[in-house]
Amino acid sequence: GPKAQCPFMKPQHRHTAQGALSNGDWWPEQLNLRMLHQHAPAADPMGTDFDYRSAFMELDFQAVKRDIQALLTDSQDWWPADYGHYGPMFIRMAWHSAGTYRVQDGRGGGGHSMLRFAPLNSWPDNANLDKAVRLLWPIKQKYGANLSWGDLLILTGNVALEDMGLQTFGFGGGRVDLYEPEGDINWGPETDWLGDERYTGDRELQNPLGAVQMGLIYVNPEGPNGSGDPVASARDIRETFSRMAMNDEETVALIAGGHTFGKVHGAASPAENVEREPEGAPLEQMGLGWKNNFESGKGEHTISSGLEGAWTAKPTEWDNGYFENLFKYEWKQTKSPAGATQWIPTDESVANLVPDAHDPVKRHAPIMLTSDLALIKDEKYLPISKRFHDDPAYFAETFARAWYKLTHRDMGPKIRLLGPEVPEEELLWQDPVPAPDAPLIGEAEIATLKEKLLGCGLSLQQLVSTAWKAAATFRGTDLRGGADGARLRLAPQKDWDAHEPEELAKVLEVLEAVQTDFNAGLDGMKVSLADTIVLGGCAAVEAAARAAGSDVTVPFTPGRGDASQEQTDVESFAWLEPTADGFRNYMPFGGGRDGGDHGFPPQELLLDRAHALNLSAPEMTVLVGGMRAIGATHGGSKLGVLTNTPGQLNNAFFTTLLDNDLTWKKSERCAHFYEGSSRATGDAKWIATAVDLVFGSNSQLRAISEVYASKGGNDRFVDHFVKAWTKVMTLDRFDLHA
Ligand code: HEM
Repeated sequence: GPKAQCPFMKPQHRHTAQGALSNGDWWPEQLNLRMLHQHAPAADPMGTDFDYRSAFMELDFQAVKRDIQALLTDSQDWWPADYGHYGPMFIRMAWHSAGTYRVQDGRGGGGHSMLRFAPLNSWPDNANLDKAVRLLWPIKQKYGANLSWGDLLILTGNVALEDMGLQTFGFGGGRVDLYEPEGDINWGPETDWLGDERYTGDRELQNPLGAVQMGLIYVNPEGPNGSGDPVASARDIRETFSRMAMNDEETVALIAGGHTFGKVHGAASPAENVEREPEGAPLEQMGLGWKNNFESGKGEHTISSGLEGAWTAKPTEWDNGYFENLFKYEWKQTKSPAGATQWIPTDESVANLVPDAHDPVKRHAPIMLTSDLALIKDEKYLPISKRFHDDPAYFAETFARAWYKLTHRDMGPKIRLLGPEVPEEELLWQDPVPAPDAPLIGEAEIATLKEKLLGCGLSLQQLVSTAWKAAATFRGTDLRGGADGARLRLAPQKDWDAHEPEELAKVLEVLEAVQTDFNAGLDGMKVSLADTIVLGGCAAVEAAARAAGSDVTVPFTPGRGDASQEQTDVESFAWLEPTADGFRNYMPFGGGRDGGDHGFPPQELLLDRAHALNLSAPEMTVLVGGMRAIGATHGGSKLGVLTNTPGQLNNAFFTTLLDNDLTWKKSERCAHFYEGSSRATGDAKWIATAVDLVFGSNSQLRAISEVYASKGGNDRFVDHFVKAWTKVMTLDRFDLHA
């Protein structure tokens, strides 16, 4: 029952507990600028000098694999292994670690081992995976800084698969651990576990969510809201797996391949026997949760999902048992001991097919979950399942590749993957870009090309905007996009509204002509179009600074390649479309990809984009101010160009914005426009959007803007703008920095 509490010790009254009142409680609409400043150096015990990638390269990789393999069958009394083998549980652990990835915003995934922290460590779907992670502690301890938790969890999944007989496709290391939960991920609107308020209309799942209920990785194993309906389950599976960028074939392979192993756990009712999840558990449980009071509370008495049983007769072997059972029997609904809906064969002669996980005498019927039956009850999944059933080698190959994609999808291009087991083959989902096939241009050539670009007839705004469009497709969440590859000239990017397709086509034609002409005059060296686009922007920024009396050099490092259309997964790139770009004052209200105004105020869309570009609040601020000063807006609009010297890189945007002689009001032209006029004369002077005014209205952003608008601020502004610009232009240069 509830314990008596000292009234002064309620968590919401203590500044040291998360429940303390924060500004967010008072002003919930304020921008969450904290999402730009997560993982501060002060929070990281490894310090800023630590470079995980080189530490990983010193790892004795084979020794780690041997240690993991030995652990698989080294059953511990405090959490005995089913069938004497931890492999299946570790596969579920790796899958749940990676499976939070969603392609819409690139967030989630196993890249930072967030399974260790709330909320994921305490999601009902992750019940008892705390034990799996804890079992690995001795190995993590042994290899310390050379092996991140992120890499260890995924590698353990691979070793488990291999030990049970699957040939995996590969493993790449390089997942850098963080030391606090990520604070930028929308996991859904509900405030209770397994709550379900994310659907509207004809079962349309809210963007960018990748699961059907709060606290699940994907779908409810018992069918939508426990309905026990396999066909309806298939629909949910298709939607959620496609949000993880998996097609039907990959989806069927993953579910069937995963459930070739292990069992589900529901020895008794969770509600009656299981205590709190790790994050809410009492101190003395030392971070472990789901304390189970049923009998021994472990082994044969384990309660995780509340479902009970195994899919195949050999739960620790890679074989075709899953499809064999699925196709061989008629399945009828039954209840687990915990009361959950699951399926067993109508044929009673198979009641002894499956061994018990702990008792050598006991036998059981195989089971299927409602979500498993989806793989034969859905008309599109059925032929895929048949093919896998008939061709086990094809099934194994498809599963191995899908597993590799699942566990590496959020790590970006192949160049970022480390270790001896990175596959040679570069996959389409890794967004391949060919390496330059000729020597790169040097300082002298760069200087000449810059002059040519400035003299090619394109305006500074066109050069800056084009480089920005190319580079700002980047998102740090899953390290996709960016200027490398010159995908700006390919579908789908060339047709995005944010990219002003007609204008872009004209500009690219000129840039390609400059590039071709320039390369023709070079002796062996070559410059790519991607480099040309970026250099054009850099040269224009320098020119804009010069025009304002600031002499600066914008760093440029050649080495980008030009990808082909075949190397570009159009469907998957479509997710990178900027449906708004506050940096260029682009807000397609009513016409965005997800319709309408996305339900977000424009300044929050700017913030989200700044986060995707790995920017800090000061960097976001200088970039907006600089792009406006140059006049590099979408469609050449005057919105937010708060300067009398457009085209000059100076701090005019900030001095205007903070001018006490101006007064602002909402415009009648559009709900998102604001007009600034002189207090003295009432004359209308400026037109701007919420994305501009937020730098004067938000107290934190105003404080930053003041830095750039006051004494010494212009030099500081130009310097910071060039640095932030350079950062954006090189976000995807993993050859320069991992
Ligand atoms: C176990 C559901 C997809 C691998 C389970 C359990 C449930 C479940 C309810 C039992 C947990 C417990 O009580 O211990 C689902 C659903 C899926 C799905 C609804 C998608 C429709 C996958 C995928 C994989 C996977 C894609 C891996 C590729 C496993 C494994 C186990 C398991 C290996 C056994 C764990 C053990 O023996 O301890 N799954 N799963 N599952 N799942 Fe899945």
